[in-house]
Amino acid sequence: MTQFTLNGRPVEVGDHPHLLAALREELDVTSPKDGCSPTGQCGCCTVLIDGKASVSCQMSLERIAGKSVTTLEGVDPIERERFAAAFAATGALQCGFCTPGIVVRLKALLDKKGSDLTREDAARYLGAHLCRCTGYTKILDAVELLATGATPIVDHGGGIGSRGVKYESLELALGDRDFIDDFRVPGLLHGALRLADHARADVVSIDTVAARAMPGVEAVFTAADVPGKLRVGIIHTDWPVFIPEGGRTAYLGDVLAIVAADSREAARAAAGAVAVEYRPLRPLTDAVAALDDDEDAVWELDGNLLSHTAYKRGDVDAALAASAHQVHEVFQTQRVEHAFLEPESTLAAPEPDGTLKVYSGGQGAWDDRNQIASVLGIGAEQVVVEQVSNGGAFGGKEDMSNQAQTALASWLLQRPVKCTLSREESLLMHPKRHPIRLEYWTGCDSDGRLTALRARMIGDSGPYASVGMKVLERAAGHASGPYVLPAIDVESFAVRTNNPVCGAFRGFGANQAQFAMEGVMDRLAAEVGVSGWEIRARNVVHPGDVWGPGQVMDDGSLGASACLETIRPAYDDAVSSGKAVGLGLGIKNAGLGNGLVEIVKAVVRFSDDGAVEVRHCWTEMGQGIHTVARQVAVEELGVDPERIRVVVDTTLELGAGQTTGSRGTLMGAGAIADACHKAKEDGCRPGVDYAGEYRVDWTSSMSDGVENPTIHSAFSYAAQLVVLDRDTGLVEKVLAVHDVGRAVNPLLCEGQIQGAVHMGLGYALSEEFPSDGDGRPQNMTLRSLAIIRPKDVPPIEVVLIEKPQPRAPYGIKGMGEIGLVPTAGAVAAALHDFDGVWRSSLPMRSPVAATATAAASDE
Ligand code: FES
Ligand code: FES
Repeated sequence: MTQFTLNGRPVEVGDHPHLLAALREELDVTSPKDGCSPTGQCGCCTVLIDGKASVSCQMSLERIAGKSVTTLEGVDPIERERFAAAFAATGALQCGFCTPGIVVRLKALLDKKGSDLTREDAARYLGAHLCRCTGYTKILDAVELLATGATPIVDHGGGIGSRGVKYESLELALGDRDFIDDFRVPGLLHGALRLADHARADVVSIDTVAARAMPGVEAVFTAADVPGKLRVGIIHTDWPVFIPEGGRTAYLGDVLAIVAADSREAARAAAGAVAVEYRPLRPLTDAVAALDDDEDAVWELDGNLLSHTAYKRGDVDAALAASAHQVHEVFQTQRVEHAFLEPESTLAAPEPDGTLKVYSGGQGAWDDRNQIASVLGIGAEQVVVEQVSNGGAFGGKEDMSNQAQTALASWLLQRPVKCTLSREESLLMHPKRHPIRLEYWTGCDSDGRLTALRARMIGDSGPYASVGMKVLERAAGHASGPYVLPAIDVESFAVRTNNPVCGAFRGFGANQAQFAMEGVMDRLAAEVGVSGWEIRARNVVHPGDVWGPGQVMDDGSLGASACLETIRPAYDDAVSSGKAVGLGLGIKNAGLGNGLVEIVKAVVRFSDDGAVEVRHCWTEMGQGIHTVARQVAVEELGVDPERIRVVVDTTLELGAGQTTGSRGTLMGAGAIADACHKAKEDGCRPGVDYAGEYRVDWTSSMSDGVENPTIHSAFSYAAQLVVLDRDTGLVEKVLAVHDVGRAVNPLLCEGQIQGAVHMGLGYALSEEFPSDGDGRPQNMTLRSLAIIRPKDVPPIEVVLIEKPQPRAPYGIKGMGEIGLVPTAGAVAAALHDFDGVWRSSLPMRSPVAATATAAASDE
C-alpha cells in the first residue's frame, strides 16, 4: 500500500503502474486525463506534486509516498471558477481533453510568477502539453487574461453571430464533463484487445486457454463467438471485427480477441497471453506496385483497386500543346495521424429492458448502432447508442474501432464492459490521412491564364475501404483548386495495401490535391513573371464559371475572390518589406454531395419548467456543434441559452450519416431552425417532439454523365499568407482569411481556423506516420509524430468574411475542414521565396518544425 495526501486528505492505494492509474482507477479522481500513459508525452494527466506540475503517468507510487498531490478537484473553488471562466471566455478549449492538464500547469506557473507570466514564457512551459484542437493561440490569450488578474466575463451568448462561450466549456475546462473513460459503473469489467503481430499473415490458430486462466479474467472472445456478421464498414462491409482462425490479417490494427477482466491491467496482461500461430505472408506496402500485384492485399477480396474516379472536359492535349507555358510535376504527400488527444473508448451495458446501451465516442451514432446490431445478430432496435462528446476526432473516429468488440463482450456476458485503447493501439487501429502520389500537367497562356490540367492520383488506402474511395473522389473533384480550367482530365485511384488503413481526416483529399495545384500555380507564375497573388487573381473562380468537374458556380463563389482581395494589402506589405512570402488559396466542399440525398433531422422539446431539449444527429468533437445547436434555438425561440440541453442518442431516428465533410453546422442549423419554426407555429407545447428537417437533394455525381453536375451544394474558401523571416526561414506569421458564409459564432470560428492552421503547418513541415516494408508504423509515440509545439507556433491571425451560400440556412458554408487546405501550398511558396527551391513532397522539413520538448516535470 502507498500513502500520500490527495487534495488535503490522507489516502492509501494498492498496486498501480503509476500515480495516474491510482488516481483514476482506485480513487475515482478523473480530472487528470489519460492521453498517452505511461509515456508522459501529452500532458493531459498533469497534477501538482508538492506544488509542482508533473505528469502523473510517469510518477511511480514509490516516488509519491508521503507527498502531497493536488488535482483540479482540490483547487480552491474561486480559483477554479476563474480558470474555467478564462478558458471559456477566450475560446481556449475545443474538445477540452487537454485542458485540465494545461490548467494545472498554468496554476503552478501563476502561483510562481503571478502577473509576470508572459505569453512567451507560458508557450515554453506548455511544451509539455499537446493540444490538437486550438493551435494554442487562444490558450495563450487565456494565460494573458489570467496573468492580469482580471475577472473573465462568461457570456453564454445569443443567437446567430454571437461570440458566446462554448457549450459545456466551464465543466470541460476543469475536467468535470466526463469522457467515456471517466464513466464509473457498478460491476464494470474492463476490455482489452489482442491485435495482430503481422500485417499480412494466415492465422493458423488462436489459443485463449492461458489468457482465460489469468487472474481477474472473466472471458476471452474471438471471431468464433460472433453471432452475427463478422464484417462491418460505413460504405463497404469489408472490415472484419475479428480475424478468425483460418482467416488472414491485413494490417497491424486487426483484432484477434477481446479479453474482459476485473481491471484494465488484468485485461491487458491477458490479451498479451492470447497465443496466435501465424503463417506470415509478404505484405503489399507500395500502392503503385499493388495495383499490378498478382496477390490480394486483403483476405477474400479480389484485386487491390478500391476505387477509380475520372472526369474530363475539353481537349487537354491540344490545350497543353498550345500553351505558352507548361509545368509537369510529381507531388507526393505523406500518411498523417490524427493525434486526437482522447484515445478511443467504448462502454457497453445491458439495460433492464433487454436492450444494450452503448456509449460511443464515434462520429456517427446511427452507423455505430447498425453495425453493432449486425455483429450481434440482433435488431437495431435492441441497441441504443449514446453519442458522448469526444476528445477530438478530425475524421479518425468515423469507422468503429472497439465499439463492436466491446458490445459483444457486454452482450454475451450481460455485464457492463468498458474498453479504452492505449495510445499505441489507437495509433495502430484507426484510419489515417492518405499518402497520395499526384502527377500534374498544367499549362497557361502568356498572361498566366490557365489553359489545361491533367492530373493522375494514386492514394494508398490501406486494406479496408473505410471512406478511402470518397477521399480519392474528393481529391479528384478538388484537383483544380478554386480555379477555372477550360480543359481538364482527372483520374484518381484508391489502392488497397497492408499499410495502416486510411480514411477521413480534416480536408478529406482536398489538402493533397491543393498542395499540388498551388504548387503548379506558383511554378507557372514564375514562368510568366507575375506574382503569386496575380496569377491566382487571374484564374480564380467567379459566379457563373464552370469549375473542376463541370459545376457551374453560384454566388457562394464570390468568397474566393473576396478572400484574395482581403488578403492583398497584407501580401503586398509583406513583399515590399522584403519578407519571404507564400500565398495559398483553397476551396473545400461542405456536405457529401455527389448525388447523395442528404436528409438531416432534429427535434426540440419543451419541459414544463421552461427547459428546452435539442436533439440532433451530430458528434460534438470540439468543433462546437452543440454550441451551434444552442445558438440556433436561441435565435429562433428567444430562450435563455442556459435552459437549453443538447442530446445525441439513437432513441429517435434522426441519423444522417457521419459528422464529416463540414456538414454538421450547415445542415444541423437548417434542421434545428425548422424544428423551432414548427414549435413556434404550435405554441411550443411542453412534452411535444417538434421535428425539423433540412435536405440537400439537388447534387449529382460527377460520373452520372451530366454535363454540368452540381456535385456539391456549398463550398467554403480561404486565402492564407505565410510570412517567413528572410534570415532564419522560420515562419513569422500566418494570416488566414476565410469566407465562412455566415459565422454562427466568430469566437469558435477563429479557434477552428487557428487549430487547423497549426495542423496544416505540421502537415507542411514536420508530421508523418510512415510504415516500413512490413507494413509496420514507425512513429509509434505522440512525440515522434512531430506535432508543432506551442513555442514554435507563429502568430495566426484570422479574418472572417461572410459571402452567404445561396440555399443554405443563414448562408452558412461549413468551415471545419478548409482551415488547412491552403496551408501547405502557402508554406511551400514561402520556402521557395526563401531559398529558391521548389518542393514537391511533404513534409517539407524546416527549422520551424521543432518537435516535442520536455515532457515531465519542468515547473
Ligand atoms: S497521459 Fe500522462 S502525459 Fe499523457
Ligand atoms: S482542446 Fe486541446 S486537444 Fe482538444
